[in-house]
Amino acid sequence: MNKFKLAINTGGGDAPGLNAAIRASTLAGIGRGWDVWGISHGYGSFTDPNTRQLIQLDRDRVRGITLLGGTILGTANRGNPFEMPIKHDDGSVTLEDYSDFVVDGFKKAGLDALIAMGGDGSMAIANKLIQKGIPIVGIPKTIDNDLPGTDATLGFDTAVNIATEAIDRISTTAEAHERIMVVEVMGRYAGWIAMHAGLSATADIILLPEIPFSFESMVRKVEERESQGRHFAIVVVAEGAKQKEGSVFTKGKVEGQSEQLGGVAEYVSKQLSDRTGKESRHIVLGHLQRGGSPSTLDRLISLRLGAAAVRAVGDGDFGKIVMIQDGDIVRVPINDIAGKMKCVPLDSDTVLTARELGISLGD
Ligand code: F6P
Repeated sequence: MNKFKLAINTGGGDAPGLNAAIRASTLAGIGRGWDVWGISHGYGSFTDPNTRQLIQLDRDRVRGITLLGGTILGTANRGNPFEMPIKHDDGSVTLEDYSDFVVDGFKKAGLDALIAMGGDGSMAIANKLIQKGIPIVGIPKTIDNDLPGTDATLGFDTAVNIATEAIDRISTTAEAHERIMVVEVMGRYAGWIAMHAGLSATADIILLPEIPFSFESMVRKVEERESQGRHFAIVVVAEGAKQKEGSVFTKGKVEGQSEQLGGVAEYVSKQLSDRTGKESRHIVLGHLQRGGSPSTLDRLISLRLGAAAVRAVGDGDFGKIVMIQDGDIVRVPINDIAGKMKCVPLDSDTVLTARELGISLGD
């Protein structure tokens, strides 16, 4: 009888903890007597087989990777097989449906199941591939923490730690120069990183995509601090935050990719400087938040989710994503969460705490 063949892939923006999850799924799969294969760069092994081969995952291949950031499989955020950006000789780009290549490639390689590690975009793709007959179990990954149904996504804790440390460092130079410093963190649709890192690093103003901002309360906060002899202020802003009646700040769009966000920190910094007369600077933490070694919590979450996904595959429980709810592992239908967003609840204890500490949320 042929050995059961498990495939693993990682899609969308990388997140610290992916390698730990790959290792856990690989070792748990091998432990069950399965062959384990990695699909390179999202679905690249099937949509671009000339440059992206399948990668055999054995004990040697996953040794020592728990502490490494990135993903040994590579990832892609222009890799949606249902909308592959194809460049033509005349320079034009069209989006083509390559999903049949994935289904055929999967069958030809003799693969029996796929563990797909990804965020909202990857789960929407997984959901469509399930309907085309590929048995998939998902693992929730994104530093943005915006997937519903789970206490945390892998990568979030590390990103919050990195952002908190960065804001701490920016605070000391802000105080020395008596400046306003505006720090832009990631968070397209949800302000989890901004809220958690901003609160932990004792920011004075935190701006989230969930709360459109205006400058009145920000200026009041800066002036209040001035009157208390605190001549500097720290603003943390999520990249997806927008002004009341405004729209998100973008840097343009490449065909087949989500719009690149950016610019809000620069805008807020300039406006605050103009309105308060204080010197101001901005900094964009950007991909720093995605790189490097995962935190202890992310390693643990990733290892647990990686092993739990293999258990779901072993049970034949496909179409599910393994999640963490109240500390326990649960399986949730991918269909229930695909295309949905977990935003920071405005009545949450974290938001109440920020308000009770006198932090301005720009509203
Ligand atoms: O989805 C995670 C995320 O970090 C977003 O917050 C951000 O907008 C996006 O990835 C940026 O991705 P990239 O620059 O790699 O396309």
